[in-house]
Amino acid sequence: MAENKIPLKEMKEWKALEAHYAAIKNTHLRELFAADPKRAETLAVDALGIYFDYSKQRLTTETIKLLADLAEASGLRKAIEGMFTGEKINITEGRAVLHTALRAPRTAKVMAGGENVIPLVHEVLEKMEGFADKVRAGQWKGHTGKAIKNIVNIGIGGSDLGPVMAYEALKNYSQRGLTFRFVSNIDGTDFAEAVADLDPAETLFIVASKTFTTQETMTNAATARDWTLAALKDKAAIARHFVALSTNAAKVSEFGIDTANMFGFWDWVGGRYSMFSAIGLSTMIAIGPDNFRKMLAGAHEMDEHYRAAPFAGNLPALMGLLGVWNNNFLGAASIAVLPYEQYLKRFPAYLQQMTMESNGKRVTLDGRAVDYQTSQVYWGEPGTNGQHSFYQLIHQGTKLIPCDFLAFSSPAHKLGRHHDLLMANVFAQAQALAFGKTAEELKKEGVKDWLIPHKTFEGNRPSTTMLLEELTPAALGKLVALYEHSVFTQGVIWQIGPFDQWGVELGKVLAGRIAPELEAAAAPDLKHDASTNALIRRYRAARG
Ligand code: F6P
Repeated sequence: MAENKIPLKEMKEWKALEAHYAAIKNTHLRELFAADPKRAETLAVDALGIYFDYSKQRLTTETIKLLADLAEASGLRKAIEGMFTGEKINITEGRAVLHTALRAPRTAKVMAGGENVIPLVHEVLEKMEGFADKVRAGQWKGHTGKAIKNIVNIGIGGSDLGPVMAYEALKNYSQRGLTFRFVSNIDGTDFAEAVADLDPAETLFIVASKTFTTQETMTNAATARDWTLAALKDKAAIARHFVALSTNAAKVSEFGIDTANMFGFWDWVGGRYSMFSAIGLSTMIAIGPDNFRKMLAGAHEMDEHYRAAPFAGNLPALMGLLGVWNNNFLGAASIAVLPYEQYLKRFPAYLQQMTMESNGKRVTLDGRAVDYQTSQVYWGEPGTNGQHSFYQLIHQGTKLIPCDFLAFSSPAHKLGRHHDLLMANVFAQAQALAFGKTAEELKKEGVKDWLIPHKTFEGNRPSTTMLLEELTPAALGKLVALYEHSVFTQGVIWQIGPFDQWGVELGKVLAGRIAPELEAAAAPDLKHDASTNALIRRYRAARG
């Protein structure tokens, strides 16, 4: 049970923000910039190699002060310490939340369940390193003696999105002779396409599942086992072609994977916070143990910053608070995450689970229905592709959509003018969103009167631009930890629990009931609602 807190909207810090919002809500970003020549410097943080420019958000220094006051009054400081020191802050599941321990150095001490977990973390990391090195060196042979060349990660949610995002993000650091595939969907197409051109004798399956009970993953893993045995015709092949990443050793051996080939983690690692645990094995095989360690070190740097920096200069706290401001005061229901870096193409999808499975909640920790908005909808695509698709709505539509722009000064590939043009675009988009184009400006350009309304850009559309040096493993680690902690910050402000996900359960239970009705030979006695009954009957008839 959680302690009862003062309801958010009754807090004096919240009321102060409401009054402040009423006072500044009609001030345009054009006016805010004109009034303060130092605005770009004042409203930017330069820390950990991230230049975080939030001067194009619709706020003032007073807003930041009031948001930081709200964070203090909400107990954010104490909550952060509680998370880092292994308190059971995931109260509905009775668990500690220690993804930060996954990236802590060997010398750290973090207690959970009465023991220091850091030696356990490093033991698994070393086991992963030994295995990754063997696969990378061609020394991990398949059953027929051929070296493994293909790695297929089977997992879903946090056991897929982190690995696939990190693989894509760091592809430029990956060992190119190895092929990586990711299978998640229970739709058989996902598996069929992933293995269509692979030789089973050269293929390793990594079955990634915290619980080792998830329907999609277990179904795909069983299909992978059949696919392997159909070609290699010997059960002994499983030991060379399957490894497991899980917290559930009993289920791993029940499936037929030797627990010597299992890389473990712990209940204090949430699925969507697990890419730095054993769940990152595919990432480590791809980029190598040294680069994996650099990614951990980057995340750890962000952890330390989050724990120590004053909120007004604290990147994750600030990012979380900007989300609260835009969501709860400006009424922005969604946020677009727009990486101007092709390698980050899966980053928005990864963030969707991290943010929305965490903060998509409607009751507070002490069980009250909230009377304010919680998680924004996160979505996005890499620039510049999005510009030719949905940016029209962001510029001139009726919805307010704050944007997170992510950009890197050094390109992964130095090709002619590409990078300068890419950067010109990201800077231009943030500029156009903020300042727009007025009717007067259009008039001066000689635009005909009737066209002016169509060509006017209202502007005043908020964005943050994050400029980093280069997309390295360390930079990726920092970015992931930045968003993770911004989610925690918001959870604390909204008084909700970011680390459970009861909302995904009902659908799973109902699917478990419906599946046998679809598969039964005789027409089942259906007792669902009329719509579901009709759909089931129609499907059964079509399937024959
Ligand atoms: O369905 C939600 C969920 O529990 C996620 O939180 C999790 O990342 C995913 O399923 C996969 O779970 P597992 O790793 O146990 O297979």
